[in-house]
Amino acid sequence: MSDKIAYRGSLFYFKDSATIANLPINKDKQSEHDCQYVYIEDGILIVESGKIIEAGNYADLKNKIVDIKLVDYKGKLITPGFIDTHQHASQSAIVAAYGDKLLEWLDNYVFPAESAYSDDASADKDLNFFLDQLVRNGTTTAVSYGPLFYNASDIFFEKLKERNMRFITGNILMDENAPDSLRLSTQENYDNCEKLISKWHNTNRLSFCISPRFALACSEKMLELCGTLKKDHPDCYIQTHLDENVNEVIEVQKLFPWSKNYLDVYDHYGLVTDRTVFGHCIHTTDAELARFKSSGAIMSWCPLSNNFLGSGLFDFGRALKYTDRITLGTDWGAGNRLSMFAVMDDAYKVSMLNNVKLPSMVGWYMATFGAAKALKLESKIGNFAPGKEADFIVIDADASPYLKYRREKVSDIFEFLFILMTLGSEENIEATYIYGKPAYINQRNK
Ligand code: GUN
Ligand code: ZN
Repeated sequence: MSDKIAYRGSLFYFKDSATIANLPINKDKQSEHDCQYVYIEDGILIVESGKIIEAGNYADLKNKIVDIKLVDYKGKLITPGFIDTHQHASQSAIVAAYGDKLLEWLDNYVFPAESAYSDDASADKDLNFFLDQLVRNGTTTAVSYGPLFYNASDIFFEKLKERNMRFITGNILMDENAPDSLRLSTQENYDNCEKLISKWHNTNRLSFCISPRFALACSEKMLELCGTLKKDHPDCYIQTHLDENVNEVIEVQKLFPWSKNYLDVYDHYGLVTDRTVFGHCIHTTDAELARFKSSGAIMSWCPLSNNFLGSGLFDFGRALKYTDRITLGTDWGAGNRLSMFAVMDDAYKVSMLNNVKLPSMVGWYMATFGAAKALKLESKIGNFAPGKEADFIVIDADASPYLKYRREKVSDIFEFLFILMTLGSEENIEATYIYGKPAYINQRNK
């Protein structure tokens, strides 16, 4: 029996052809040629067997939907789910930790909290909580650091499978400069990756991510083995941290005196690839940025975290001169919100501090289709082209009084997206659908 359903509401998504460079950044620049998005005020999204069948005007499609179930979200915005490209699934217990910058924060808060994941039952409970919160915030895909321990990582994959999420994750790797409770031998880390890859990589909607925590927590042997894993499994992703904090950069130079710069440490082991996501990238040199350009490596800009830990201001205008593979991450753990609205809001403010305006179209692009493209997932997720996987959210601007009030004065989609990105929060997520099935329905009015 067909499970075809039509959803009625306003639709917004980017076209397959969109890139940061060709986005219209304000209404004056809008033309047929640079119109890289679709906005339909009264639209219909038709979904069947987890895939998008069609998106269009209600008036045009209403005859096609007479016999199928209709879910009415009129007045609400239906848009692709958010993609968070940097987060730590095992840091929920220490979010909003007071008073420390990166290296002290890791020692005082993060490492003790992550050690608790050696207990399978508490890992299970924490990870469930985390994923419930993620969908409550409208995020349907993420690049995520899983726990260090094999069992906890396996539990995480199992939960992602049950929820049928498109997800990129792997066990976080560290074999040096860590407390005993959080240090596995180099070989054990490697073996855990191999086991998790053979069990989970490319199963369901899951991809494995080789996840060396950062250069300071990995021996040269560990980094070398990460390179071996990448060679043996070329379509695995890689994630790590880069140039987040000034003291971190100094320590890396001391530990790897042969390196030309921080990125060069990873490059030496074959870890700078077009499937590598580098979190932060704040204190970058020109040589490092040039290497982003030549390698196609992906940046994850995490302004919530950078502000929370006082790490610094990502220079979006400068980075954009070298690469358009710039995405957004919460860095949940150091980032104190799981909401991509909050990330876009802080990204805008950080840009203003750098005297660069961040247009709403660019913010939304980086949080949705731009991230899908950077991750080479654009044929699967990120917009409503027919055949794409139906991961979408319903945004109810009227759920918050400020947005409801402010919305009445909005003149176009550019401004509407801007007030959403700077005033929106999880209270505005009415529903989150994963592969065509409701993963979260806001119970506010129910
Ligand atoms: N660098 C190394 N580990 C971490 C981490 O857990 N969070 C952040 N923000 N930076 C890191
Ligand atoms: Zn991080």
